[in-house]
Amino acid sequence: MIHARIAYTGYSPHRFTVSRAEWSLIWDEKNRPLIDFTSGWNVTNLGWNHPEIAEAMVEQIARNTYAPLWGSDPVQEEYAERLVASLPEQLDTCVKATGGTESVEEAIKIARAATGRKKIVGFRSSYHGQLFAAMTLGFPPELLAPIAPGVPEFVQLDFPREDGSGSELNQFSKSLETVLSNMEVAAFITEPGIVTGWGSVWTAPAGYLSLVRNLTERYGTLLVVDEVGTGFSRTGHLFGIGAEGVVPDLVCLAKGISNGAAALGAVAGKHAIIAECAESANLTSTFWWTPVACAAAIKTLEIHRRDDTARQATEKGEFLLQELTHRLGDHVSVVDIRGRGMELWIEVDSSKTYRTVLELAWKFGLHATGDNESLLQVMPPLTIELQDLKEGVNRLVRAFDAVREE
Ligand SMILES: Cc1ncc(COP(=O)(O)O)c(C=O)c1O
Repeated sequence: MIHARIAYTGYSPHRFTVSRAEWSLIWDEKNRPLIDFTSGWNVTNLGWNHPEIAEAMVEQIARNTYAPLWGSDPVQEEYAERLVASLPEQLDTCVKATGGTESVEEAIKIARAATGRKKIVGFRSSYHGQLFAAMTLGFPPELLAPIAPGVPEFVQLDFPREDGSGSELNQFSKSLETVLSNMEVAAFITEPGIVTGWGSVWTAPAGYLSLVRNLTERYGTLLVVDEVGTGFSRTGHLFGIGAEGVVPDLVCLAKGISNGAAALGAVAGKHAIIAECAESANLTSTFWWTPVACAAAIKTLEIHRRDDTARQATEKGEFLLQELTHRLGDHVSVVDIRGRGMELWIEVDSSKTYRTVLELAWKFGLHATGDNESLLQVMPPLTIELQDLKEGVNRLVRAFDAVREE
């Protein structure tokens, strides 16, 4: 749809203008405050418009705002140092990007150039971005159809969705091994045991990351972990790979990386892999890592570490999951409630329920979003005060109660 001369795709029945935003509150164009349960989709993890980040950016604007492609500003080098220092030590080299999709496309280019192989394997109905390779990687074919053809040599598997049976990983292990042993696969690309993006929100059983690390290593395939949605504390670890202590070959980062203050993304990976193809994979773009974006990212990372926001995500996430399960678990329209850290979701019985709940939540002063079909994604800023979190849940429950009465 087009609203105020700008084109939009899905996600919410609401098109609104943010007149103000602070911590876990946003104000619409009528100046009405809403509790935010979206973080702009895992972006403003530290809360909207963090004053320390704004201050760091203003200081950088006064110093320098651009560095040429063939050189760097000191703040870019400082960010690279700090970013790799917060990752496993083998991931010691960075590739600059302006956002999540670009970081995924970069990882695909690096994997093909470094291995000399073509095949890329990922999951059907997982979101990795909106350019051709990223879409081919995760979009179900029917959704890709209007802009097809996609990119050749991609293979999609079914995600080992946790269902309590205990056999999900066995089955998945067999299908991944069949693909890896029969094809020359350059990279296997996955989020760290969870699907956070549009389309689906699923978790894999514990042990998933270790399993895919072992199998990819065995067959000479690079393991690329997309931490665009899970990075920066969302699932209870600074990075999702921390859950199983697994070291992939490349990690993609964006979204929470600058807390929404500036466009930024990154691939962090092993030096030997990136050095081998820094020229051949053509790793360059005009607006990668502007100095102001790097200043925002340095401050963002510093605050995550200083304030242990990962712990906050774990504690508040446990509370939130308990509250939602207790108050909505038996609701006639609720199919399932699950998640990890502060990345939770409520599956409802129909797209009609989905839209009605979102509209009523909005009416009652709660900003929420989801997949535009049947999954409400609950992902408040990790710094949300407990009283706002409780009130947000009250408003959501009120919306579900009103649906029941309809
Ligand atoms: C897991 C994941 N990967 C990649 C992307 C694409 O990131 P961006 O929108 O910054 O291009 C997203 C965006 O939602 C995402 O959730």
